[in-house]
Amino acid sequence: MIRAAILGGTGYGGMELLRLLVGHPGVEVTALTSRSEEGPVADRHPHLAGFTRLSFTKETEDVRLRLAQENDVVFFAKPHGVSASELPGLLAAAPELRIIDLSGDFRLPDPSQYPAWYAYEHPHPELLATAEYGLAECGQRDAVRGARLVANPGCHASATILALWPLARLGMIQGRVSVVSVTGSSGSGARPKQGTHHPERFSNFKAYRPLHHQHLPEVIHALGGDTRVDFVPHSAPFSRGIHVTAFVPVGDASDDDVRQAYAGVYADEPFVRMHGVPPDLRACLGTNCVDLCVTPGDRMACVTLAIDNLGKGMAGSAVQNLNLMFGLDETAGLDRPGAGL
Ligand SMILES: NC(=O)c1ccc[n+]([C@@H]2O[C@H](COP(=O)([O-])OP(=O)(O)OC[C@H]3O[C@@H](n4cnc5c(N)ncnc54)[C@H](OP(=O)(O)O)[C@@H]3O)[C@@H](O)[C@H]2O)c1
Repeated sequence: MIRAAILGGTGYGGMELLRLLVGHPGVEVTALTSRSEEGPVADRHPHLAGFTRLSFTKETEDVRLRLAQENDVVFFAKPHGVSASELPGLLAAAPELRIIDLSGDFRLPDPSQYPAWYAYEHPHPELLATAEYGLAECGQRDAVRGARLVANPGCHASATILALWPLARLGMIQGRVSVVSVTGSSGSGARPKQGTHHPERFSNFKAYRPLHHQHLPEVIHALGGDTRVDFVPHSAPFSRGIHVTAFVPVGDASDDDVRQAYAGVYADEPFVRMHGVPPDLRACLGTNCVDLCVTPGDRMACVTLAIDNLGKGMAGSAVQNLNLMFGLDETAGLDRPGAGL
């Protein structure tokens, strides 16, 4: 069994990682840490009662180092800016350790982008080139297999890249792309803040950080650096899920060429489900699936796509990356449908 520790276990990322891993045939979760909570994990995450007997491990620097030495893989499920400081010590202390970071701290290869997009100077720029961006479907599968450090993609970024990847890879994008990405409230994490807690989100809808969201540089980098993307995220009054609508100029490409780009590039992807009509958000919830529809139009393709932000947008992708890093079946622990409603 692969031994895994999860740092940041009271948050949604830690919670969802544990939910997926208690059903994984090849992984044992040995510890879920918290700075603030003690006692049984199932008291905090009651849907996991009966599936885990873990209690929270009180996190300190010494505990992190011990967990790094006693486990095969450590997940960082903490806010941006934390793993950039804490993670390098673990890599140094445990030479065999693999790390999967859910935050944005190792997603951008160029350290000069961190002050502009994340408002901090990266404390370990030398490590950025060693991190692999963990989106298997988009040309990263082999790199993830060999990686010690995987930077798990952002939720909006995953959805946007997956919507554009076939056309980008085949060089079919002929101009600026427009993307509208709509997320549920769990995208803001477990701690309520002004603007993200229930009374503000319920029955409300708004755009935020138009054209300047921090996921934009990883989207552009993952697509090869040349694609221009105008990206506007929105927050919607549901809890889980992300829905993307992308408008992609495709020049003279025929309708068949556009459809064939997606059918061909994603033909063997176990988690991508092509649909003839725009996807329902709820069909992907609780899964690692990518539900996608491409509609060719007048020199334009409209791509609609839905993922679970906590699944393919975060913990599902992280488990998929673990499977690749340790030579397991890529779908292990992830091969189940959602609830559908
Ligand atoms: N939510 C999503 O849809 C989503 C999708 C993709 C990626 N991500 C990224 O994944 C990471 C985890 O997201 P999340 O939604 O699980 O966040 P979250 O619900 O806010 O949980 C983060 C956890 O980190 C712990 N923590 C450790 N050091 C901390 C610090 N200095 N400040 C605040 N909390 C600290 C906290 O637990 P204790 O207080 O118990 O220690 C907290 O419960 C973030 O970087 C996020 O941007 C999130």
